[in-house]
Amino acid sequence: MKGRFITFEGVEGCGKSTQIALLRQHIESRGRAVQVTREPGGTVISEAIRELLLNPEHTAMGSTTELLLYAAARAQHVHERIRPAIEAGTVLLCDRFADSTIAYQGYGRGLPLETLGRLHELAAAGIRPDLTLVIDVPVEEGLSRARNRGRSDRLEQEALDFHERVRQGFLQLAEQEPQRIKIVNGIQSVEDVATAILGHVDALGV
Ligand code: TMP
Repeated sequence: MKGRFITFEGVEGCGKSTQIALLRQHIESRGRAVQVTREPGGTVISEAIRELLLNPEHTAMGSTTELLLYAAARAQHVHERIRPAIEAGTVLLCDRFADSTIAYQGYGRGLPLETLGRLHELAAAGIRPDLTLVIDVPVEEGLSRARNRGRSDRLEQEALDFHERVRQGFLQLAEQEPQRIKIVNGIQSVEDVATAILGHVDALGV
């Protein structure tokens, strides 16, 4: 059976983790092999890079360092985990992928989009999601949910206008690639968000 690569995106606290867990159960109940992974992370090396990136004490980190670390984590993840899983016919659900780099480092930090594109070619090595679900919530709502979970990480501590640019970045990406990227309204019940997501996943033929 053909492997599928489905990514989840959105601002902090948009509800990705809950929805990924629900979708995983649903696909498993159909008897398909499914795996869940995340970025930055998903392998021992990439999780170590995640620690570097999200540590709130690392306030000295420059935007270029940040970009290269996300790309390094992705290159290892693609090499060690994503490509093998897809080739084995698995449905792979990934919490964030390359669209987060465009939204956060591109729209959020203001790094040039063409630089990001070249780096993406290197890190993702031709891997492209079959479907990307952007769970859209207003940033104030998402950040207050995220902050209620405990100590904020380095990115969550950014100002509101940074997160607003990130949200607009995701919305613009969805406009540019409507076939692949679907916006799901995150301000509705967990069940209604799950139903909307399932509609897009079914359309993919999973
Ligand atoms: P998470 O909190 O959803 O697990 O994501 C980790 C943080 O890393 C989140 O603030 C978004 C950020 N991020 C980027 O800035 N660029 C990226 O390429 C990725 C994958 C995540």
